[in-house]
Amino acid sequence: MSYEFYKFLHIAFIIIVAAGLGVAYHSTQPKYFKILTGISSLLILVTGMGLLARIGVSHGDGFPGWVIVKMCLWLVLAVAGPVLAKRLPDSIKPKAFWGIATVLFVAVYMAVNKPF
Ligand code: HEM
Repeated sequence: MSYEFYKFLHIAFIIIVAAGLGVAYHSTQPKYFKILTGISSLLILVTGMGLLARIGVSHGDGFPGWVIVKMCLWLVLAVAGPVLAKRLPDSIKPKAFWGIATVLFVAVYMAVNKPF
């Protein structure tokens, strides 16, 4: 698959996860949307790896700093995102969503600016 196609998929899955967690933190997520959000968050990682291969970063070289930061942010998004949506009290969830939004903003910043 081409770089452009990986990037299209990467961003499309990010949109689904952002929408899915947005629903989860503000009301009840239908079951199919929970599944869609989970699968899409895994596919963010898969397409991110595809993008890395396309821009010439291979496993042997070690990952650049901005990629390591993105992987950590992805872990927060994929694991803590849904768990907190389930466990936090309803009154706190809308505020906690700003944490999710911040994780997304920082990940986008890392991809665009690659500060380290
Ligand atoms: C936390 C969720 C993530 C968000 C919100 C996110 C966001 C983005 C965005 C918006 C772009 C396009 C940047 C551009 O066109 O300049 C991008 C590109 C990219 N992302 Fe992600 N990403 C995430 C997770 C990941 C993960 C986990 C990886 C690595 C496994 C990854 C690797 C990449 C790579 C290699 C590119 C291409 C950079 C380039 O073309 O120079 N991303 N990401």
